[in-house]
Amino acid sequence: MTTTATPSPELTAAGAPRAGGGGKIGDHPVSRIGYGAMQLRRLSGDRAAAIALLRRAVELGVDHVDTAQFYADGFVNGLIRDAFRPEDGVVVVSKVGADPSPGGPVPLRPAQRPEQLRASVEDNLKSLGLERIPVVNLRRLDTRPGLRAEGDQVVDLDDQLAVLTALRDEGKIGAIGLSAVTLDGLRRALPAGIVCVQNLYSLVARGDEEMLRLCVDERIAWVPFFPLGSAFPGMPKVVDAPAVTAAARSLGRTPSQVGLAWLLHHTPNMLLIPGTADAGHLEANIAAGTIELDDATLAALDATESQPVDLALD
Ligand SMILES: NC(=O)c1ccc[n+]([C@@H]2O[C@H](COP(=O)([O-])OP(=O)(O)OC[C@H]3O[C@@H](n4cnc5c(N)ncnc54)[C@H](OP(=O)(O)O)[C@@H]3O)[C@@H](O)[C@H]2O)c1
Repeated sequence: MTTTATPSPELTAAGAPRAGGGGKIGDHPVSRIGYGAMQLRRLSGDRAAAIALLRRAVELGVDHVDTAQFYADGFVNGLIRDAFRPEDGVVVVSKVGADPSPGGPVPLRPAQRPEQLRASVEDNLKSLGLERIPVVNLRRLDTRPGLRAEGDQVVDLDDQLAVLTALRDEGKIGAIGLSAVTLDGLRRALPAGIVCVQNLYSLVARGDEEMLRLCVDERIAWVPFFPLGSAFPGMPKVVDAPAVTAAARSLGRTPSQVGLAWLLHHTPNMLLIPGTADAGHLEANIAAGTIELDDATLAALDATESQPVDLALD
């Protein structure tokens, strides 16, 4: 999949007005509202609906999609391969650091070793049908929620960056991002040239505010996962925050839309990848890019208390 049209700050390569306005990930101009493909695992019984959802996202001005080989063992990557055309200019971002584990107690297992990262990039290239993945996030296992590294899966960050840098030199990946990384880890990785950070973050989970500020200063895109608080029970949900429901009522919008609008207002380097398997929710999430929040509403939302997120999902 190579881009044949020229995207601009206002329009995607497909010619749609940018969802949420224009942003950047590395050298790629992208719409600030993208799409997280993980929820498409739930549409494994309805492939046509999943493809239609991805096509609708492109029509609505999305050109940045987050995925992983371990989302339903390549199924989601296969959807992306089949749904997007080169002229859509979609910037596909994948992640390495875990492998699919179909039939296991959870559908993924740690794969942090350098040779496993390389093999995972190859798997992603194959299932996505790409010669180069525009951006690959190194998914560390440093922070909750999710798997923890043990034994030979405890790998030094420098060793991992060495293989990702080599893969970038070989042209197999376009740029490197980090996920579930600590502030120290990010600082250590900066010389490798990091274009994005994908950590858990939302209005109700703001433990990484200091790291976010570093990313603003370094012009690194901040692409939070669980921007709404995820589909997992037990995770704090943005839609439950009283300031969010109050703002939604007064603006005539939904609480999810207000949560996404707050993120867009919070910092200029914020790029969104909300996940949904529902076409109506996709449209609502993209429409959140048009919401204006006045100073009083922003102050009320800012005052929402951040909650701990130490849930083990494994
Ligand atoms: N780097 C990592 O370790 C990592 C970890 C997790 C996820 N991710 C990425 O981050 C993306 C976003 O995270 P996520 O999908 O787990 O969580 P999320 O975006 O915070 O929330 C998804 C949940 O919110 C619901 N939802 C979405 N839009 C809605 C709307 N407008 N109104 C009401 N409900 C709505 C979805 O249900 P419906 O399907 O019914 O809309 C789903 O239950 C993922 O898709 C994935 O690409 C990365």
